[in-house]
Amino acid sequence: MSTLNYQERIPNNVNLGENRQLQRALEHWQPAFLEWWKAMGPEGFQAADVYLRTATSVDAAGWATYGTVKMPDYRWGIFLADQEADRRIGFGDVMGQPAWQQVPAEHRSTLRRLIVTQGDTEPASVEQQRLLGLTCPSLYDLRNLFQVNVEEGRHLWAMVYLLHAYFGRDGREEAEELLQRRSGHADNPRILGTFNEPISDWLSFFMFTYFTDRDGKFQLKSLAESGFDPLARTCRFMLTEEAHHMFVGDTGVARVVRRALEVMKEIGSDDPEAVRRAGAVDLPTVQRYLNFWFSSSLDLFGSDQSSNAATTFANGLKGRPDESRFADHVCSGQVFELEVPDGQGGSRVEQVAMRNAMNEVTRQAYVADCEIGVKRWNRLVQKAGVDFELKLPSIRFRRNIGSWAGSHVTPDGKQIDAETWTNRQGEWLPSEADRAFIHSLMKQVVEPGKMASWIAPPDRGINNLDVNYEYVHLQ
Ligand SMILES: [Fe+2]
Ligand SMILES: [Fe+2]
Repeated sequence: MSTLNYQERIPNNVNLGENRQLQRALEHWQPAFLEWWKAMGPEGFQAADVYLRTATSVDAAGWATYGTVKMPDYRWGIFLADQEADRRIGFGDVMGQPAWQQVPAEHRSTLRRLIVTQGDTEPASVEQQRLLGLTCPSLYDLRNLFQVNVEEGRHLWAMVYLLHAYFGRDGREEAEELLQRRSGHADNPRILGTFNEPISDWLSFFMFTYFTDRDGKFQLKSLAESGFDPLARTCRFMLTEEAHHMFVGDTGVARVVRRALEVMKEIGSDDPEAVRRAGAVDLPTVQRYLNFWFSSSLDLFGSDQSSNAATTFANGLKGRPDESRFADHVCSGQVFELEVPDGQGGSRVEQVAMRNAMNEVTRQAYVADCEIGVKRWNRLVQKAGVDFELKLPSIRFRRNIGSWAGSHVTPDGKQIDAETWTNRQGEWLPSEADRAFIHSLMKQVVEPGKMASWIAPPDRGINNLDVNYEYVHLQ
């Protein structure tokens, strides 16, 4: 088991002290990161004492230590999962060959692009969420937001380490640019669309951490299979932290739903307007936010037919999530049946080479994973005896990438014309009025143990502490 070195300026388990040049380069990047954090990280809370976990081991059994820290003093570090002896590449044309400890020259630019694309999402989400603290529904939630934020900052470190350690000068330049792009910026935006959407309310934050962080989980799982071993090891450890981000989304939405159900019982009505008047979020609005973030996150997997995906798979750069669950890891002759629009309002099945459909394979695994939480939320609704069901919309709904981009499709998958779409999209997506209502609920609650009107308390606190614990001490 490798131990983490906390004596150095940059905590790490990669023997950074033995590589002076790399250490100097990263110590040079560190103040730029901190400046970025202070400018673009959580607004208004840099001096607060926050109860946070910090990675102190890569052992799954006990990898985190909890304690109170001011965010700018957080020990962001570089941690890779332990190296597997004699690891072999598990898929593609290079299956069975020893995993690479250095970047193969012929895959240099593709690997750099994969790492930069992943790396860019990490600071992007911190930027998207930077004002949320000002409207937190409780100290418990405020702390969870900050936990997610500091860990996304660490994920940036993880990718920047790879760029510095393995990609020379262009890697260092990419690392600089990761601190220069800005979420939602007109001239210099973040790379992927979803990461330029503002997250200005907590319902969006919970949807984002449920749906978009889950996209992150599947991307990391695919990269954890990579033949480039340092990338695989980095991603495996990042997945440990990522689980909490999705927990925040899963339980956050559940608590919004639970509060709606309580209010419906109190007022004896399921009328959305009455629920709103009582200060909770009506379930149809929850559904519209779900539709928005789920469809937006689906696009992150890329086109359903992709020669890039085929090449990165064939070359052993990016596998499928949980590659070991498949019988065939080469997929050279296999075919995937893909439903595409037929141009006449229907669909037809196209036979696509399996390697070209890898994005779709990953997307399907993602959708199945998304269903789990939706089922849990619906169980709350059923238990309350309310006749309502939250549903994932069809994967054809509101797509901007892939075969269904540009088609007008209802959440249940029916194709409609442009005019019907325009007239009815307010039923399916958050309207201006919905957003205004949600924003009207966003009032900061920072008294220990108190919750905003629109959300139920969590079942338990963090790390066995009480829900009422003062998770953030404001200065
Ligand atoms: Fe992340
Ligand atoms: Fe995350």
